[in-house]
Amino acid sequence: MRDAVTAPRLHPVPVRVMHWLNALAMLVMIPSGWGIYNDDVIIRGTLFPDWMRLGSWAAESLLWHFAGMWLLMLNGLAYLVYGLVTGRFRERLLPIRPRELVATVRDTLRLRIAHADLTVYNAVQKLLYIVVILAGVAQVVSGLAIWKPVQLSGLVAALGGFQAARLLHFGGMAVITGFLVVHVALALLVPRTLWAMLAGGPRVASRLRRQP
Ligand code: HEM
Repeated sequence: MRDAVTAPRLHPVPVRVMHWLNALAMLVMIPSGWGIYNDDVIIRGTLFPDWMRLGSWAAESLLWHFAGMWLLMLNGLAYLVYGLVTGRFRERLLPIRPRELVATVRDTLRLRIAHADLTVYNAVQKLLYIVVILAGVAQVVSGLAIWKPVQLSGLVAALGGFQAARLLHFGGMAVITGFLVVHVALALLVPRTLWAMLAGGPRVASRLRRQP
């Protein structure tokens, strides 16, 4: 049996490495996506200013986007497999109880953001993490569809056509960007969580027994 010294940390090394690689991938994907968007806007009159874009023109932004894409796809796939195989997703992101969700939203609106026990995510956190993981999957699928619409014509049709896939891709970006604003703000408001995501956090013998 693992004791308090050898038990795994709240965020084991693979989770930390994948989390920060993912943050890096998003830092490349989002602003380069804005650069590509400017070439053929979806919302008329909406352009991203130069300082928000990665790449000085659309073709350069596209190169950045494809470079980040491989990191996001491979690292995201590794995180999904890890989360499912080790049981991390089930143990840390489920269950989400509606009553707990309502109570957490109410507390947050009253600026009562308690996170005394780092080893337990509150219901809103669980929901947000599930939403952002699904949004990441949707981004990869819709991105593949608009990258290779001829070879993946079946996928494009399943998504409702090329323009619908584009809209889905744009919507996914908006969800992830919105998540990031809240996520980073909360991490800065409760810096212990940030330190835990860097150094591993407390050892948790009982909850994550099957993780390396
Ligand atoms: C600079 C950017 C980021 C910072 C400062 C940050 C910070 C953190 C912190 C502190 C935690 C632990 C939260 C806690 O213990 O209460 C966490 C977890 C998490 N973050 Fe981030 N994060 C960033 C970027 C991202 C990005 C880009 C994504 C995805 C799009 C993301 C998705 C997640 C997920 C899914 C978890 C839960 C991980 C797990 O327990 O398996 N984060 N993040």
